Amino acid sequence: MLLCRCLILACCAFTAVQVVVSAAKPDAYPQARGRRAVRSEAFGKTADGQQVELYTLTNANGIEVRAMTYGGIITSLKVPDRSGRMADVVLGFDTLDAYLKGHPYFGAIIGRYGNRIAKGRFTVGGRTYTLATNNGPNHLHGGNKGFDKVVWSAAPVAGQSAVAFTRTSPDGEEGYPGNLTVRVTYTLTDKNELTVDYHATTDKATPVNLTHHSYFNLAGDGAGDILGHELTIHADRYTPVDATLIPTGAIAPVQRTPFDFRTPTAIGMRIDQPDEQLKNGKGYDHNWVLTRRGAGLQPAARLTDPASGRTLEVATTEPGMQFYAGNFLDGTLTGKGGHVYKHRAGLCLETQHFPDSPNQPSFPSTILQPGLEYRSKTVFTFGVSK
Ligand code: BGC
Repeated sequence: MLLCRCLILACCAFTAVQVVVSAAKPDAYPQARGRRAVRSEAFGKTADGQQVELYTLTNANGIEVRAMTYGGIITSLKVPDRSGRMADVVLGFDTLDAYLKGHPYFGAIIGRYGNRIAKGRFTVGGRTYTLATNNGPNHLHGGNKGFDKVVWSAAPVAGQSAVAFTRTSPDGEEGYPGNLTVRVTYTLTDKNELTVDYHATTDKATPVNLTHHSYFNLAGDGAGDILGHELTIHADRYTPVDATLIPTGAIAPVQRTPFDFRTPTAIGMRIDQPDEQLKNGKGYDHNWVLTRRGAGLQPAARLTDPASGRTLEVATTEPGMQFYAGNFLDGTLTGKGGHVYKHRAGLCLETQHFPDSPNQPSFPSTILQPGLEYRSKTVFTFGVSK
């Protein structure tokens, strides 16, 4: 089956954006508030001496996104609450060294394949490929050194508050076939949207499933767990999993299950109910089959924090979304500002194709063929409720 992707043509009026490349400290930027800007600065070096840059995007409303070239990781995302108080709503660390020590994909670009591939094996073009099994018996998030652990090239995008990360994943990297040329662009608009555009081409047929792995906490990084957040997922169905989190192949209705988020529901309301699927995920760690009415961007989810009033809407061109409730966070990681990341301190809304698609013939295909383009787009829109 051919990979079906939607071409999104964004027509943006040109607005002058200041692009500043400097080595100043991040806190030297309050003057950026209130206008669109892109800045970059040195953030440190990897163990093998590669320089890592940190980009700061701001918009006219004072929203600020920071993303670094290591893993394309969004290190902070500051948005206002209903009284205008800013908070950083993603988990992460203050220093590059802390990221290099290891963490569960905080804020990263995930690739070549988001989520799991059963037993780290798939067959394409009559040939079977073997990947690292870095998650129990399965392959997770691209392997031992996925796209989250490499240094990307980066460049600001002219006329926008945006940065494009690019790299070519060589043929055979982490066992995957084909040289895959990838571009992931983060754009912050004055409508308080953070757009993530993915583009890839290959010279051999290969699975591709890129996603973004920010852990959100709309109350603010370090402000407790996300169980009181209310979530809506625009999906009538989801893909149940086995005990190793591989889809069984079934596409099941959410109706009358704890997976029914068709109306706004507190995440904590049912997460610990006795339920075989919740047991397999240690909570929510499943792919929802999004209800799509046509091509292009479609609403996927809405998250609200009733206390602060912060809201997050997610729209995507993808057919699925993994909602991961931070079940494996256990207080062993200390993040920004000394915050200890306890159980369910943040949650991920990972728009993507379904897990293990290369081994699931009934799922939409994730195989990118040479000569075709992989295009995917997700928009995270921040707001406030009364
Ligand atoms: C997976 C989880 C995993 C987490 C971080 C999520 O996308 O579904 O099972 O623990 O990423 O590693």
